[in-house]
Amino acid sequence: MGHPRVDAIAQEAREAVAAAQSSAELEQVRVRFLGRQGVLTQLLRSLGTLAPEERPRVGAAANAAKRELEALLDARLPRALEAERRASRARERLDLTLPGRRPPRGALHPLTRVHDEIVAIFAGLGFSVVEGPEVETDYFNFEALNIPRDHPARDMQDTFYLSESTLLRTHTSPVQIRAMRTRKPPVRIIVPGKVFRRDVADMSHSPMFHQVEGLAVDRAITMGDLKGTLELFARQMFGPASRIRFRPSFFPFTEPSAEVDVLCFVCDGAGCRLCKQGGWLEILGSGMVHPRVLKNVGYDPEQVTGWAFGMGIERIAMLKYGIDDLRLFFDNDLRFLRQFA
Ligand code: FA5
Ligand code: MG
Repeated sequence: MGHPRVDAIAQEAREAVAAAQSSAELEQVRVRFLGRQGVLTQLLRSLGTLAPEERPRVGAAANAAKRELEALLDARLPRALEAERRASRARERLDLTLPGRRPPRGALHPLTRVHDEIVAIFAGLGFSVVEGPEVETDYFNFEALNIPRDHPARDMQDTFYLSESTLLRTHTSPVQIRAMRTRKPPVRIIVPGKVFRRDVADMSHSPMFHQVEGLAVDRAITMGDLKGTLELFARQMFGPASRIRFRPSFFPFTEPSAEVDVLCFVCDGAGCRLCKQGGWLEILGSGMVHPRVLKNVGYDPEQVTGWAFGMGIERIAMLKYGIDDLRLFFDNDLRFLRQFA
């Protein structure tokens, strides 16, 4: 009944619908045949140019082809859209069985760990923790500790001054004075904190570092108590096989005085860059509290005696973890810090 030219177009349109793989391709077919510039639209628009006897046949065939194509598209398009929605839902579905992503795990800084361990060891011996200010006066940092102005010992601790009489404390020893002024013997305290010196940074020195001061004052406290306490501390901190030595030294606020060294872990005592060829690493200064210091805080040196020490937390952490450069503690390199997680 049709018309050869229209039949060819209709056949082409059927094949195009059959070949379309998606709603978008079906839409392309619609545009190609039924759009404003579409093949069937153009044909219907140009009926007037045909011979009059041809018009009804071509017109009827073209309209029939148009309705057939619209019906085909109406049947396929919703199914294509539904299939596409299903596919996209499947693609986006959450897989609740996937293992989660672990958040990165933080860890305590090695200096914090060593600090906590020192505090725990001395807490076990009956010491309590006391703190003092980082900005200190000349009186507490030096004068009351028997280090008068012009005393050569001030050169031992090159100082950051804030004014004529205030400074960044060069050690935790001023807190000995503050603590003794406000309490009566017996005293058993430790004082952790930051200290500051105009030291050039190298493998074992930093201009800011941490100390823990220890102070015990009571009747009949002896140098033997100091040795026993520090030996017990070293065994707990570094293990039962660790070796320390007491070396006579000088501090204006203790008499007698001693420094404590630990065998260098890098060279095992043979001498290397870290221990400056000495074979030992100094971890603390100590001694019997000088009678003049006891007098300065109102204690009677005839009635009470005491010992004190000041240890470097960085040095102890280096020995404990085998770290050969103190500056690593302050670089904040995560590759270093993660090793302590
Ligand atoms: C003192 O600071 C005395 N106040 C210690 C003391 C306290 C003696 C009580 C007697 C009684 P010294 O300057 O040696 O002493 O320092 C003590 C420890 O701090 C050293 O043994 C070392 O472990 C550490 N230390 C000193 N300077 C630095 C530095 N620049 N960087 C890192 N650690 C340091
Ligand atoms: Mg020293």
